[in-house]
Amino acid sequence: MARVARSSIGASFWALPSALRPLLRSASAVRVARCTYSQEVSPPQLTIADQDYPKDSWTNVPASILSQYGRSLHTEPNHPLSITRKLIESRFQNFRHHNDLPGVVTVHQNFDSLGFTPDHPGRNRTDTYYINKDTLLRTHTSAHEVDIFHANTSDGWTLSADVYRRDAVDRSHYPIFHQMEGALTWDRSQYATPGACTEAIRQSFNHLPKHDLVVEDPNPTFHPERNPRQESHHSAAETEIIAAHLKRSLEDMVVTIFTAADKALAASGQNAAESKEPLKVRWVEAFFPHTSPSWEMEVWWRGTWLEVLGCGVIQQDLLIRAEQPNRIGWAFGLGLERLAMLLFGIPDIRLFWSRDARFLRQFDEEKGLRRFMPYSKHPAAPRDVAFWLPRGAEAEGETVIAGTEASTSSAPNAAGGRLAEPSVDTSTHPIFHENDLMEIVRNIAGDGVEDVRLIDDFVHKKKGRRSLCYRIEYRSLERTMTAEEVNGMHEKVCRELVEKFGVEIR
Ligand code: DAH
Repeated sequence: MARVARSSIGASFWALPSALRPLLRSASAVRVARCTYSQEVSPPQLTIADQDYPKDSWTNVPASILSQYGRSLHTEPNHPLSITRKLIESRFQNFRHHNDLPGVVTVHQNFDSLGFTPDHPGRNRTDTYYINKDTLLRTHTSAHEVDIFHANTSDGWTLSADVYRRDAVDRSHYPIFHQMEGALTWDRSQYATPGACTEAIRQSFNHLPKHDLVVEDPNPTFHPERNPRQESHHSAAETEIIAAHLKRSLEDMVVTIFTAADKALAASGQNAAESKEPLKVRWVEAFFPHTSPSWEMEVWWRGTWLEVLGCGVIQQDLLIRAEQPNRIGWAFGLGLERLAMLLFGIPDIRLFWSRDARFLRQFDEEKGLRRFMPYSKHPAAPRDVAFWLPRGAEAEGETVIAGTEASTSSAPNAAGGRLAEPSVDTSTHPIFHENDLMEIVRNIAGDGVEDVRLIDDFVHKKKGRRSLCYRIEYRSLERTMTAEEVNGMHEKVCRELVEKFGVEIR
């Protein structure tokens, strides 16, 4: 569980030229720990896709992210992410599919245009890659909703793209992943009466494909406190039919995906007993700033409930901002990696980034879905790092964020869902945030790290200090790493933890 208190001070240690930092460092390790997020002092700008952006104290995009920017895996022919995208798109027949929107967006597009409050935790520099205070790497495809509604080129659309989040390191999290956004709206002004528009949505609903999926949907469509309808904008009947249309459309999409996954599994001879269970979905009430009411869809797959997507009835204020006050409708967002991993049986998210032919040649969009056949398994090299947090981390008013659950790609705190972190003042920085540790590890070990997790957390009563211990599993997908190589990386990680956060290695 996250242990959270508030940080009061924010010294700009990392904004200092490196030559001056030792002066501060020797004075007090505690003060050193409050870093802001400026990268190296020069050059004064970041260049992304041939465009220069001025840096400032918000800049926190590392070179490792920039070097992957623009790979566009979701449009690479025969790539599993592209195959997954196309499979989903095939269920949204009359929609327009946008697949090439660049990932640099404004803070306004990513947050404000969607109605995110100024203190929403998704805005934190610990969670989001900022190019500067006004510009960032989109944290979700919803960043383009207002623009697409504004352009108004089709009633229905999907948008698939790469998104960026500072997050945990494990086999299902990578700082860059892919989402698909989708929306369908109806224009009330095209109907003689509001009732006629509702009726048109009902007609469309009646034509949606039927399925024999088991659906658990225990809650009322809307609830005044938990999941309100937008009373000043939508009638109860409108909300009901938009929600029904949304749910049926997404259930149909999921049936398609999971039936394909089951077929591929059977073809590979791996059809385990548990996959004979009927496919089930359930609708869980959720919160997103840009929809109300909102839900997450979970799918029962081989013994667990998987969170697959977030969705809801579009906030009318968003459509008003997009100068489409007469349109009403629904939207959803989902993580493509999670679905692709299920579809193809891909065990580690890093594989999507592999340029290894042993991976890439296994997928062929013409030949239908085939299960991934692992080609190698190299040994893991676990190393632990235990450290005392800087003195004072125990004091009232200090923030430490450790042992948080990794976010999921469809509804993490960057966008709403179930909030994992409380609101914080986005101008200060916690004394220790484990996403910073994750990034240190990723920057040093690259794709040679499989998992990082908190394994111990205690307060030494006498010393009055808090200790954390993380286990880092080093493992390459491509080769066996030597002990020296792993030790070298691990030492670097320890050194950077000391330098950047003023921790004391135990
Ligand atoms: N943007 C959300 C996320 O990243 C997902 C989402 C939820 C998209 C609800 C939507 C929506 O369009 O209506 O988790």
